[in-house]
Amino acid sequence: MTSLALAAFIAQATSRSRLQPDAADCVLALAPLMLDLIDQAGSFLEPQHYRSNAAGYTRNLIFDAPDASLSLYAIVWLPGQWTPVHDHGSWGVVGVVEGVLEERSYVRLSPDRGANAGIDLARGGTVLLRHGAVTSFVPNPAHIHVTGVPAERSRAVSLHLYGRTMSNFNIYDVAARTRQRIEVVHNES
Ligand SMILES: [Fe+2]
Repeated sequence: MTSLALAAFIAQATSRSRLQPDAADCVLALAPLMLDLIDQAGSFLEPQHYRSNAAGYTRNLIFDAPDASLSLYAIVWLPGQWTPVHDHGSWGVVGVVEGVLEERSYVRLSPDRGANAGIDLARGGTVLLRHGAVTSFVPNPAHIHVTGVPAERSRAVSLHLYGRTMSNFNIYDVAARTRQRIEVVHNES
């Protein structure tokens, strides 16, 4: 822990998330903390948090709670890099520290009874998040989206706080109407 601002953020996020068992209340309580953390990013983001990879967007771990109840990553998006269509199975709070991060939503049309097939998704709207912006999401129903940076824009860097260690998530094949759980890699801090 190299920054008082980061340590304070982790302490407050931990206590607030424990006080808010409902995910929607939790992100309401944590979003203002992320807004302030963006302003302090220069005090704790180090060169390893800006690692990138030409093969795809890069997740650089900043903090992972010992009890797996919270995790914080710096994600670096080079031009043209996107996630697959996915959900997180967790609440999340995202803040943008550099560039413009784009989020394209999907709306689930078929009820979720736990099956990984027969899933109908419709494309929804898009959100453009500049430096300083904060967005959040809750699970149940799953928040399904792709996030990234179009090829014609510059690199983006964003902070992602989740309500669990985010080492796997669900990805969707929209045409095949399927979903599967995959492991997602990150760089250690
Ligand atoms: Fe996501």
